[in-house]
Amino acid sequence: MSYLTITMQDLKSHYLLFTLFIFKVFSANHACNQLDRNSLLSLHLDSSNSTPLYWSSINCCHWEGISCDHKGRVTHLWLPSKGLKGGISPSLVNLTRLSHLNLSHNSLIGFLPTGLFSFLNQLRVLDLSHNHLGGQLPSGIGGCSKLKIFWAGFNSFSGFLPHDIYNAAALEEISLPSNNLLGPISNEIMNLTKLTSLKLYQNQFSGNLPLNIGKLSKLKQLMLHTNNLTGSFSRSLLNCTNLIHLNLRKNFFDENITDLNVSSLHQLTILDLGSNNLVGKFPASIHSCMSIRGIRISRNQLEGEIPPEVAQLKYLSFLSVSLNKLTNVTTAIKILMHCNILEVAILGNNFLKESMPTDVSMIDIDRFKNLQILDLSPCQLTGQFPIWISKLKNLQLLRLGSNRITGSIPGWLSTLPRLGTIDLRDNLFSGEFPKKFCELQAFVSGHALSYNSTSFIMPLYFVSEDNNRYNALNYLSQAIILQNNNLSSTIPTEIGCLKRLRGLNLGHTKLTGTIPTQVSELTDLEYLDLSANHLYGEIPVSLTSLHFLHLFSVANNNLQGAIPVGTQLQTFDASAFEGNPGLCGYPLSPCSHLTSSKRDEDIQEEEDRHTIPWFHVTMVLGFIVGFCGVCGPLVLNKKWRVAYFQFFDKLKDRFFAKLEVLWSD
Ligand SMILES: *[C@@H]1O[C@H](CO)[C@@H](O)[C@H](O)[C@H]1NC(C)=O
Ligand SMILES: *[C@@H]1O[C@H](CO)[C@@H](O)[C@H](O)[C@H]1NC(C)=O
Ligand SMILES: *[C@@H]1O[C@H](CO)[C@@H](O)[C@H](O)[C@H]1NC(C)=O
Ligand SMILES: *[C@@H]1O[C@H](CO)[C@@H](O)[C@H](O)[C@H]1NC(C)=O
Ligand SMILES: *[C@@H]1O[C@H](CO)[C@@H](O)[C@H](O)[C@H]1NC(C)=O
Ligand SMILES: *[C@@H]1O[C@H](CO)[C@@H](O)[C@H](O)[C@H]1NC(C)=O
Repeated sequence: MSYLTITMQDLKSHYLLFTLFIFKVFSANHACNQLDRNSLLSLHLDSSNSTPLYWSSINCCHWEGISCDHKGRVTHLWLPSKGLKGGISPSLVNLTRLSHLNLSHNSLIGFLPTGLFSFLNQLRVLDLSHNHLGGQLPSGIGGCSKLKIFWAGFNSFSGFLPHDIYNAAALEEISLPSNNLLGPISNEIMNLTKLTSLKLYQNQFSGNLPLNIGKLSKLKQLMLHTNNLTGSFSRSLLNCTNLIHLNLRKNFFDENITDLNVSSLHQLTILDLGSNNLVGKFPASIHSCMSIRGIRISRNQLEGEIPPEVAQLKYLSFLSVSLNKLTNVTTAIKILMHCNILEVAILGNNFLKESMPTDVSMIDIDRFKNLQILDLSPCQLTGQFPIWISKLKNLQLLRLGSNRITGSIPGWLSTLPRLGTIDLRDNLFSGEFPKKFCELQAFVSGHALSYNSTSFIMPLYFVSEDNNRYNALNYLSQAIILQNNNLSSTIPTEIGCLKRLRGLNLGHTKLTGTIPTQVSELTDLEYLDLSANHLYGEIPVSLTSLHFLHLFSVANNNLQGAIPVGTQLQTFDASAFEGNPGLCGYPLSPCSHLTSSKRDEDIQEEEDRHTIPWFHVTMVLGFIVGFCGVCGPLVLNKKWRVAYFQFFDKLKDRFFAKLEVLWSD
């Protein structure tokens, strides 16, 4: 019996090989259909790549990107990323046997040929994404009864979806993100019962989510973010039991989600409802989504507490609820401490004026140990620095800005081996800059940081939506932001130990003393703000060696002497230095009391020769003009002054702007 089976199997496979062989011989010998060949040639596909398409031999079935059927008719035109330019010629529609068309990732322009779908009704796979195509999507798609995959995202298509798209019943994937499409999504979407993926994000679709989208029981991915959709979504979706990825962020949904029943969405992995007008409470039914890994409900108007059910979400790795009106931060943290693999907790802009959770019971909890990003700013939380943070041995980025935390900045932060960004701005911290920070490997040797794909399993999705965000996160690693506190101490000379620091903001911290020359040992520094303190003495000449510096301010101190000349400090405008009555030299006014003996000699020489010292005259004139033009109005006109400093603040903020997108979005 088994012997027989084997022979049968053998026979089968031989037969298969044989037919394959025959097919190969025949298809190789079958010259391509000459009309198809002509149509291909009249496409005039121009490759701007270094390797052009060598489309010249008689048998077009052997050309790059082409396959034919046994009759020599072209079935595949597969030329993604070939640097193709120009428009799509109407002769494409003569390739009527085409089943697979992929021209994605080229630079094609213009409209699609009108009869595209009516003629190419054998299409199964169509990918035109990542080009510069525009105009309306032509109708006729409803006649493409075999079309399974339709991708045309990242173009400039406009207008309504062709209405007969809802008749293309074989469609499994519709992906049209990042176009200018508009209008409502029709209720007829329910005809597309095979749909597994619907990506219409970054368009201008409006109206309600069709109620019977829930009939699409095979739907796995529904990505409709960044559109103008309104109303309620919850009732529509309840039967989409296979939904894995739901993204409705940045729309105008405005329902009350307190009683949102997501218990049928067992497979849900990513739930993104951020930036809508949702009200009510964080839905407790979320606990039935046992495989959920990322939740974003930031930028809504949720109130009440994080429900205890969240503690049951074993796979939750990313949670962002910032910019809501949630209450009871202590409860929130205690619940989240049960989510063992949570990596990112973005909770800021909630819990207004509550007290910092410092419950002693929290210290013993041995959970939360995967947390890499904690953001609790701005919340106006009062009290002391929470000690439980010392347990977060994987913490890389801590943001507790804009709270009312008192006491000193704890030195034990240095026991968090991976900590690379400390943002404690706008608090009431007092005392010294912790010398213990010299033990933080991220600042000292720089290698502790790894915002990489393996450690950020979940957030990578949120981040990869726009690669820049990921980079922005990298960009701001290795920064210490203490601006707007009450340190009232000196900058310790030990600061030179933080050799890999890239951002240091000690502005408005009531610092006294001089700027230690050791600051120049922070050779990676890109951003240094020491403004609005009580610093005195001269700016150390060695600061001119900070070659990466591109945001800098020592404004509004009591510094004096000449601004060190070099290629670095002179690239900043006067606002970086002003407010220091004793400071002079470019870009401020020239120093009148010239100390250098060389200059003295020069002046002596000039005076001796009784010539007009043109150099100094022009400098003084320049100063007067410059002063009247720029500084004068700033001194005289309060409005201008405010605007000017706001501009500088904006400049500083730009350093963080990209990161904020990730944090607060
Ligand atoms: C088209 O080709 C690109 C590049 O090879 C590929 O990534 C994409 O998946 C193809 N499209 C379809 C629908 O298979
Ligand atoms: C399609 O082919 C026919 C000949 O079969 C030809 O007359 C016509 O011009 C072609 N259309 C285009 C747009 O090239
Ligand atoms: C939620 O829906 C499920 C069915 O999907 C139902 O069994 C359950 O009772 C509902 N829960 C609530 C609180 O309505
Ligand atoms: C949301 O719904 C809940 C219960 O259904 C209700 O108690 C609450 O007041 C509603 N919230 C708002 C803002 O309408
Ligand atoms: C937070 O919740 C806990 C437990 O439910 C309660 O004891 C505490 O009073 C609440 N705190 C605030 C600020 O509402
Ligand atoms: C700032 O610190 C100084 C000295 O530690 C203290 O005298 C002062 O009251 C503090 N100011 C504020 C606003 O906390």
